[in-house]
Amino acid sequence: MNQSMGRFITLEGTEGVGKSTNLQFIQSVLEQHQIDYQLTREPGGTPLAEEVRELLLANRDEIVADDAELLLVFAARAQHLEQVIRPALNNGRWVLCDRFTDATFAYQGGGRGLDTDFISRLESMVQRGLQPDLTILLDLPVEVGLARASQRAELDRFENEKLAFFEQVRSAYLARAAAEPDRFAVIDASGTLDQVQEQIRVVLEQFLQQS
Ligand code: TMP
Repeated sequence: MNQSMGRFITLEGTEGVGKSTNLQFIQSVLEQHQIDYQLTREPGGTPLAEEVRELLLANRDEIVADDAELLLVFAARAQHLEQVIRPALNNGRWVLCDRFTDATFAYQGGGRGLDTDFISRLESMVQRGLQPDLTILLDLPVEVGLARASQRAELDRFENEKLAFFEQVRSAYLARAAAEPDRFAVIDASGTLDQVQEQIRVVLEQFLQQS
């Protein structure tokens, strides 16, 4: 029997946009529609990839070379795709992933200023054409997000970056969304939680109808 592939949804945004709360909301909508899905995240999602995540997020005295950071991100992604994402999609399960390669274009491309052609080549090598079917981008002015994120107990190596870094991350996300309007849904995350979730619900209902 020919089983259909699962659908692949990713959630993106800069620091403090409300990713965790809204991820739970997306789960609740999928559950209301009785969708069988796998929740996962990047960097991470397998034991090895979670170890790479720890390496990436740890604050350290040694300066991390931008290329090393990029390659670690893709090493974790290769493992995650092989062990979790492809098997789930091939079994007809949906995958809901907290961040994916758009984060690499935003953080390593926009934030660190790495060559996007180089990132694209790694993307092709590791993903072999696999792309999310829907990417929900929570968008918020950087100062607002950082003010929220700064309430957290301990800031990781990325959260400790400066405002200018996050401005570049945000611009890179928005540029990607503008370039691929069919895949991206940009959500204005500056409203109340209810307003934000209403926007997300509309996007998901529409996506579910097409799926
Ligand atoms: P999270 O805390 O939102 O789960 O994400 C961990 C951090 O990793 C976040 O600051 C963004 C960063 N990151 C990258 O720099 N590149 C990537 O490709 C991914 C997936 C995350």
